[in-house]
Amino acid sequence: MSYENFKGLSIEDQLEWYKAAIYSIHDGVLVIDSKEIVRLINPEYTRITGVKPKDIIGKPLRVVRPKAQLAETLKDGKERIGVYRKEGNVEYVVDMAPILLHDEMIGAVSICKGLTEVHTLSKELEKNKQKLSQLKEKMGTLYQAKYTFEQIIGTDGGLKDAAYLGKKAASSNLPVLIVGESGTGKELFAQAIHNASPRADRPFIPVNCASIPASLIESELFGYAEGTFTSAKKGGKLGLFEIANSGTIFLDEIGELSYDLQAKLLRVLQENTLRRVGEAGERQIDVRVIAATNRDLHQLIEKKRFREDLYYRLNVLHLEILPLRKRKQDIPDIVDYILNKHAIHSEKEQSYELHESTLAIFQAYDWVGNVRELKNTIDFAVCMTDTNVILPEHLPSNFHSSTIYKSNKQTSYLLKQAVEETERNVIIEVLKKHGSELDDKKKAAKVLGVSLATLYNIMKKYHIGDF
Ligand SMILES: Nc1ncnc2c1ncn2[C@@H]1O[C@H](COP(=O)(O)OP(=O)(O)O)[C@@H](O)[C@H]1O
Ligand SMILES: [Mg+2]
Repeated sequence: MSYENFKGLSIEDQLEWYKAAIYSIHDGVLVIDSKEIVRLINPEYTRITGVKPKDIIGKPLRVVRPKAQLAETLKDGKERIGVYRKEGNVEYVVDMAPILLHDEMIGAVSICKGLTEVHTLSKELEKNKQKLSQLKEKMGTLYQAKYTFEQIIGTDGGLKDAAYLGKKAASSNLPVLIVGESGTGKELFAQAIHNASPRADRPFIPVNCASIPASLIESELFGYAEGTFTSAKKGGKLGLFEIANSGTIFLDEIGELSYDLQAKLLRVLQENTLRRVGEAGERQIDVRVIAATNRDLHQLIEKKRFREDLYYRLNVLHLEILPLRKRKQDIPDIVDYILNKHAIHSEKEQSYELHESTLAIFQAYDWVGNVRELKNTIDFAVCMTDTNVILPEHLPSNFHSSTIYKSNKQTSYLLKQAVEETERNVIIEVLKKHGSELDDKKKAAKVLGVSLATLYNIMKKYHIGDF
């Protein structure tokens, strides 16, 4: 039997052909005629419901499946989509539709899908949902700000006022501009403000505008649409502003942002919407902006390198942090704070202290790298000292040229010389008194409180011969 020439088939064979088509459908199919008599089911229907053809074909549907709603469809001619049914342990979803021929309703068809597949899919969906929420949580911790105002040490040089203003700023949504040299604690302040704000449990996203290549910064900040670049990711890319949504974005070194992008940033700040690169639509965002710079923005404005309108937009709250050399009173407290941290983290739980000559060097030093340099210096010295005291000699070599260090070194050299000279004189005197025989030396060693071997070593060290 060949089915190649459809039109050449007998009626019976054509019917077989249609039946085969319906049998191949991966959904359960049941067809009734206009008298509600079941005329056809396919194997998938049997698989889902457990009802075999001999038990149902040729019989009234109401009799064999009393709960079936297909008869209603036959009555009102209306489709029914996604009707849930459960018989015994079997759950499935049914779509029902009238069958029309030349405007006459000649029957109705129901298509059912077993829920095992739906359950498997929904389980998979649940798993993915869990994964997503775990990832979200991870992302939250990844982008959390560490520091609070308690961890900002010092009060000198207006730091107290800056902290006061920072705390006030935290409760508002206003933009903040933090100005200060590198290492003065600008990011520390930004984190503290975020953590004291109602956004504390939302992301804190630090962005260093100077470290992202100019060609990438727009798409890094605002994201891009799918297919924007040849290397673009499927589904596009989330920008940092979107990641920071409902949280805070910290735009460090804002003075390095190109003039072009400054205009785009201004738009985002004014409209609270952003447009991904290559996308037409705008997206609503809610991001608190804290910007920082170590540049003189007024000078940049004069040189037309920074937009004045953006400056005023960002500078609603202005925090200035002075360099460490202008607030030296705080050095001892900051040192203690850093040493304490070392004590907590050291295995021996030993507490470290700064020798006063080291503190004197610190007070005289001008700390171009500010608190960051101070911290690094202490970290280095803690590593170098074998005791818990940090002496000038434990400091990095750039401190060795300091005059205080030199005079200190001089004193300790003189002291060493004096000690050695005294030691030599005492030994000569004792040896002279006792004589140079072996027994005499033994006695001398006893008087000096050292072993004979040590006495010989000392004599060798000071080039002392026999008497
Ligand atoms: N007042 C301060 N008290 C304690 N630690 C500080 C203080 N200021 C700065 N630091 C520390 O100094 C380092 C540099 O601070 P950071 O905020 O990164 O500076 P900036 O952003 O201005 O370059 C960080 O380790 C920070 O914790
Ligand atoms: Mg910084």
